[in-house]
Amino acid sequence: MNVDKFRSLFGETFARNGPAVVVRAPGRVNLIGDHTDYNDGFVLPATLNRAVYVGVSPREDGVVRLYSNNFDEHLEYEISARPETADSSWIQYVTGAIEELRARASSRGGVERGFDMLIYGDVPLGAGLSSSAALTVAVVFGLETLFELDLDVVDSIRLSRLVEHRYAGVECGIMDPFASRLGRRDHALFLDCRSLEYEHVPLPLAAAGLALVLVDSGVSRELAGSMYGERRRECDQVVAAFRRADRSITSLRDVGDALMETGAAGTAKPAPVGGGAVDIDAESDVDGGVLLRRARHVIEENARVLRARDALQAARYAEFGELMNESHVSLRDLYEVSIPEIDTLVAEAQAVEGVLGSRMTGGGFGGCTVNLVRLDAVDRLRSHLESAYSSAHGRRPAVFAVEENFETGVLDGGK
Ligand code: GLA
Repeated sequence: MNVDKFRSLFGETFARNGPAVVVRAPGRVNLIGDHTDYNDGFVLPATLNRAVYVGVSPREDGVVRLYSNNFDEHLEYEISARPETADSSWIQYVTGAIEELRARASSRGGVERGFDMLIYGDVPLGAGLSSSAALTVAVVFGLETLFELDLDVVDSIRLSRLVEHRYAGVECGIMDPFASRLGRRDHALFLDCRSLEYEHVPLPLAAAGLALVLVDSGVSRELAGSMYGERRRECDQVVAAFRRADRSITSLRDVGDALMETGAAGTAKPAPVGGGAVDIDAESDVDGGVLLRRARHVIEENARVLRARDALQAARYAEFGELMNESHVSLRDLYEVSIPEIDTLVAEAQAVEGVLGSRMTGGGFGGCTVNLVRLDAVDRLRSHLESAYSSAHGRRPAVFAVEENFETGVLDGGK
């Protein structure tokens, strides 16, 4: 969205000049490392060229006026009395973020005065591209900028995740708000989800003659919530089994090597790092190794992320693409979070010349695939998928290419 257009939309909406501040926070696509963030593991997302824009101006009174351009919905309330509303979810996210920011003491004061806020976004909704993280990050960052809040950036990211947990009931990990807030143009973001140390890894798409192509299956992620919770609990069960033998184990990150040594073939009784036998199958797994398959995915995916980071750093894009392909197989067969439509999109993409890698991305059960593609192959991939997906599943996928990515920042105003 063009900033001038956004400014005039703000003026028309609230019948005043402004906004004082315009910020933007992008959606994200995870390149590799899925279902590792809540297991204290590694992820490697990148930001998109799709974002949420927030324009905000202070008021003299304590009234908050919100307007979502996408939903054409207004809300007005006293800042001290967050409305308990069952209304659309964007309102839950926005008022939740405001409430949490108010609750944070800040050395330069908090959010006490009212304000007018305009929100517009072009991150596809429900496609697994973190439109909600982009929304929350944009609202928090907009208010931080307007009121000059002195919030540590990692605390601000944690606050965005808390909003998802507390106000939207989504048990997501830290990856999405982290990627949206700290992802950088022409880079992917390597994140250690345990220490929260991160590193920007160069991904100069256009200069390298590459694009990220996102392909939306159009399958809504209905199962995503319940199955996501189920996978988290499965991982917790494996960790609990190991913990009985070794109290120092707190996540799958700690049991990695031991599990790998035993092969995790499905029936093995892996020896934990501290020694002693752990009988996972007898404990809870009637299906001969489901839990071990889940664990194996997480452990091997972590190792793949490290290799992928090294490959990217050395501009070894073909190797990076191979790792993406391997990641998909693991998510499909071991973690079992893919669906036939997504598998079709991945297999068909991998058959197109100039596609270096293809995989599902995000939580699974629908949403998008992410493809690393040579620029000259983007159109070929698009037309191939449009016809192959239509004949296999009777619908056209939405295909869009990312040739440059955004980063969270102030577009206008602020200091
Ligand atoms: C969803 C969650 C993330 C992450 C992915 C899977 O997108 O929001 O925190 O767990 O699933 O990698």
